Amino acid sequence: MINAEQKWPEGDVTRIPYWLYQDQEVYDREQEKLFLGPVWNYLCLEAEIPESGDYLTNFVGEMPVIVNRGPDGGIYAFENRCAHRGSLLALKNKGRAKNFVCAYHAWRHDFKGNVLSAAFAQGVNGQGGMPTDFDVSQYGPRKLRVTTLGGLVFGTLSDETPPILDYLGEAVAARLLRVLHKPLRVYGRYTQILPHNWKLYFENIKDSYHSSILHTFFSTFKVSRLSQGGGLIVSESGAHHSSYSLSHTGEQDSEFEKEQLRSNQANFKLQDKGLLDITDEYHDGCHVQAVTMMPGFVLQTVHNSIAVRHVLPKGPNETHLRWTILGFADDSEDLLKMRMKQSNLVGPAGYVSMEDGAIGGFVRRGTAQASGQSSVVLMGGRDTVSSSTRTTESAIRGFWKAYRSYLEL
Ligand code: FES
Ligand SMILES: [Fe+2]
Repeated sequence: MINAEQKWPEGDVTRIPYWLYQDQEVYDREQEKLFLGPVWNYLCLEAEIPESGDYLTNFVGEMPVIVNRGPDGGIYAFENRCAHRGSLLALKNKGRAKNFVCAYHAWRHDFKGNVLSAAFAQGVNGQGGMPTDFDVSQYGPRKLRVTTLGGLVFGTLSDETPPILDYLGEAVAARLLRVLHKPLRVYGRYTQILPHNWKLYFENIKDSYHSSILHTFFSTFKVSRLSQGGGLIVSESGAHHSSYSLSHTGEQDSEFEKEQLRSNQANFKLQDKGLLDITDEYHDGCHVQAVTMMPGFVLQTVHNSIAVRHVLPKGPNETHLRWTILGFADDSEDLLKMRMKQSNLVGPAGYVSMEDGAIGGFVRRGTAQASGQSSVVLMGGRDTVSSSTRTTESAIRGFWKAYRSYLEL
């Protein structure tokens, strides 16, 4: 249990205590109540397992899972844990398998995780073997309930998780489906190692206030500035959000310039202006958008780069951010090249995500001896509502509102 002295400092979500990012007991409680609780966890894209027998491995919190397409064409997911002594069943990131046979003692599992057989169950030469009442159907890894939305596959261990559209809310779902409106194609994958607690990253992506202040590229090249049109949608529960900005009008924005931000470098020039080209594929003038779904799903569009980012906690002070770079199945060769080029803008070796990873590390280091102190989350007021400005921390407060409810804090 969480130390009784560790109390939320005030009644609302405008002060976030730092021990929440540092404490092992809090971390363990998140695994149990949140990730393994009544939430939808991102598993993969339908396009990654198109054929029967295709599988992928991933995690729900720290629980390893296998997701695969069964012989009936359905998608199934179960814990990547052998029913016998607990070894991983699938060892690769992806592959094709008829059954999942454990390397240790060759117990065989089907696409649903059911145990089909145990090697040498009858013994050898009439000796050894399982007791006569041994029944393989009594054993097995935990199974997940699976759902899909816009080509994405999600899983949950809880019977209480609501249908995905109720879970996400209509307004956030609309922002997600605005992008994921036709069959997808995977262009690449990589994992970014973040030297800090997973919540610092999930707050960061919900933090529409920071992006043109921290990110030199966004600000200098007017990809996304707080002075541009746009908005922020926070789901009723607070758990999910979308922020988006409209293209820069080209006019001088004196309010932005007067802040004299480090990120606004008038002397920076691009050798290849094509990096910032835009094909208006959604026909609504909006070219930068983030969507989050608690506890760890992010969909990003920056100009024509599209990516899913999956937030995977690896202990209180480490997070893996698994990126899947996307396009659509009907992309032309030119559009494919454009997406690949632009994915370098926001990838970890680019100019944006590297800064997001670094800043979470700065927070971890800055708060090393501040577990009893709290951060201030007052920008835009105290509530967790949607707004027509992105100069607000409303989506961060929404995250904490939902977090407190899941963790009963
Ligand atoms: S641990 Fe898998 S068969 Fe023994
Ligand atoms: Fe950022």
